[in-house]
Amino acid sequence: MDQPFKLILADCRLAMKQIPPASVDMILTDPPYNLSQYSTGNMKFDWRSDINNDLAAWDKGFDPKDIRDEVLRVLKPTGNLFAFCSYNLLGRWHEVFDPVFDTFQFFVWHKTNPVPKFRKAGFLNSCELIVCAWNRGHTWNFGKQSAMHNFFECPICMKPERIKNPKHPTQKPVKLLKHLINIATNPNDLVLDPFMGVGSTGVAALESRRRFFGIETEKDFVEAAQARLQNIRQD
Ligand SMILES: C[S@@+](CC[C@H](N)C(=O)[O-])C[C@H]1O[C@@H](n2cnc3c(N)ncnc32)[C@H](O)[C@@H]1O
Repeated sequence: MDQPFKLILADCRLAMKQIPPASVDMILTDPPYNLSQYSTGNMKFDWRSDINNDLAAWDKGFDPKDIRDEVLRVLKPTGNLFAFCSYNLLGRWHEVFDPVFDTFQFFVWHKTNPVPKFRKAGFLNSCELIVCAWNRGHTWNFGKQSAMHNFFECPICMKPERIKNPKHPTQKPVKLLKHLINIATNPNDLVLDPFMGVGSTGVAALESRRRFFGIETEKDFVEAAQARLQNIRQD
């Protein structure tokens, strides 16, 4: 891929088959969480507006095994995988990907501004897991030991970063994605996000002078990603 970025409107389980073998340096992605089955809908209050707890229609039916063979085929031998992962799928990610990589680990994103729970009936959902898997010889751009923690703190997307139209319920912060891209790839490397949403991984990749390939099934999200990426200067 010569151009800085390429976006495809498609089901990644099919579209990944068109990507040349051993061509991708990093897969950084945020697949469905399969949490919609547990959703009780928006939280309603007399004294304030609803809090969004209504999970998207696409958030079901995903099994990490659906993408395993294509992940292994498109990644370079030294490529690595970082995937956001909900608590209910952690065991499955491990079962599917631990046997096929040298190392399987997790990374924690601590959200400094999680959605509040006014009734105080349980923990805030302030941490999100990112599973990561790599083989010997892949890129680690670590500096000090303190930069090597498998932990990162930053807020969830707020204005002005949060895209208003279309609104994406799980838009991820570019600051976190840039941190992962910068420690695990080199300039001009190719980053693939097969579940691209509104293209946050692409913004992080281009702003870090990496190339980007994104796949997404929703037309509105692909258009929003295109609008975000085409405004990023590459010089
Ligand atoms: C958790 S969201 C990703 C959000 C993204 N990280 C962002 O910041 O915008 C998952 C996305 O995967 C898309 N999706 C679901 N199944 C897909 C599939 N089979 N192929 C491609 N995209 C898919 C959904 O439409 C949704 O936008």
